[in-house]
Amino acid sequence: MNVDGTPYRTIWLAEDGWAVMIIDQTRLPFEFVTRRLETVSDAATAIADMWVRGAPLIGATAAYGMALAMHGDASDAGLKKAYDDLMATRPTAVNLRWALNEMRVLLAPLSAEQRAEAAYKRAAEIADEDVAICSAIGDNGMPLIAEHWARHGKVRPVNVLTHCNAGWLATVDWGTALAPIYKAHDAGIDVHVWVDETRPRNQGASLTAWELGQHGVPHTVIADNVGGHLMQHGQVDLCITGTDRTAASGDVCNKIGTYLKALAAHDNNVPFYVALPGPTIDWTMHDGVHQIPIEQRSPDEVTRMTGRTDGGEITTVTITPDGSPAANFAFDVTPARLVTGLITERGVAEASETGLKGLYPEQG
Ligand code: MRU
Repeated sequence: MNVDGTPYRTIWLAEDGWAVMIIDQTRLPFEFVTRRLETVSDAATAIADMWVRGAPLIGATAAYGMALAMHGDASDAGLKKAYDDLMATRPTAVNLRWALNEMRVLLAPLSAEQRAEAAYKRAAEIADEDVAICSAIGDNGMPLIAEHWARHGKVRPVNVLTHCNAGWLATVDWGTALAPIYKAHDAGIDVHVWVDETRPRNQGASLTAWELGQHGVPHTVIADNVGGHLMQHGQVDLCITGTDRTAASGDVCNKIGTYLKALAAHDNNVPFYVALPGPTIDWTMHDGVHQIPIEQRSPDEVTRMTGRTDGGEITTVTITPDGSPAANFAFDVTPARLVTGLITERGVAEASETGLKGLYPEQG
């Protein structure tokens, strides 16, 4: 995707061919800052402190983190420590485990001399595969938007509501939930996006709004509580969100607040789609609500907010009374029964084990 007209991915190799470059997403939308990662510890910090975030990009960063580790210490001990340190960064997005396991299975049997080259090669493949997967998600999801466009006589925009950021910033390129929107927009379909602000970290207000704006997609930022009202009044044609972990049952775990949107959509007969790449499916889990680990982050993210003053200064303020405790659950699970369909790189599936296995028959 383009930033001020220049094409970017969210992660790439530096010119020296070994360090890893990322966009520091904590600085958006006010500043576009890239950062250089040189060690596995840098990569772990980038994931834990959310310089990079979004399930697929967490996976790609972890893969490059393993490559950085092998560049520094390709011993068996170095491999184990890198795997353990990266695995401990964030608990919910299963792409992290998927990417780390891919790397460990590849690297463990190799000699220390062979590991760095193999690790960089596989990390690059994981990044390239993510781009191809997300592009295919866009192709498979775009007809759902086109259908609404045609149904309403192509005279008014198709209104899509999304939550958090499941755009290109959350992946290597294209995004998951936003990929069908970009493809529809590029195909000349009039699409408008309701962007949930997504408290507490405001990934919608800060990141989704920014990247839609960079691509010229019409959008409106709304407070998190607005979606139900809009759906009651026919102002949402469909919802599309991402997911950090999809149980084999079709339950989807995504940014906190997604479940409430799905409930409102269900009550108002608004289709609720979830877009996901294959590596986001956790085939070992069959009850997402009770099995998927939910990350709890610092209460400071709830009690404090960062923004830009009219004078242009970026500052953080406290919004709660001194002494009021806060809790920060980062994700929730939407049961499969509330999901209209799962948009994947292989097509659109019913949100069920049968539906998913129809698209991924190799899972048996
Ligand atoms: O905490 P975050 O910002 O990493 O959460 C991201 C999301 O919830 C996304 O919707 C999800 O990772 C899907 S990304 C394509």
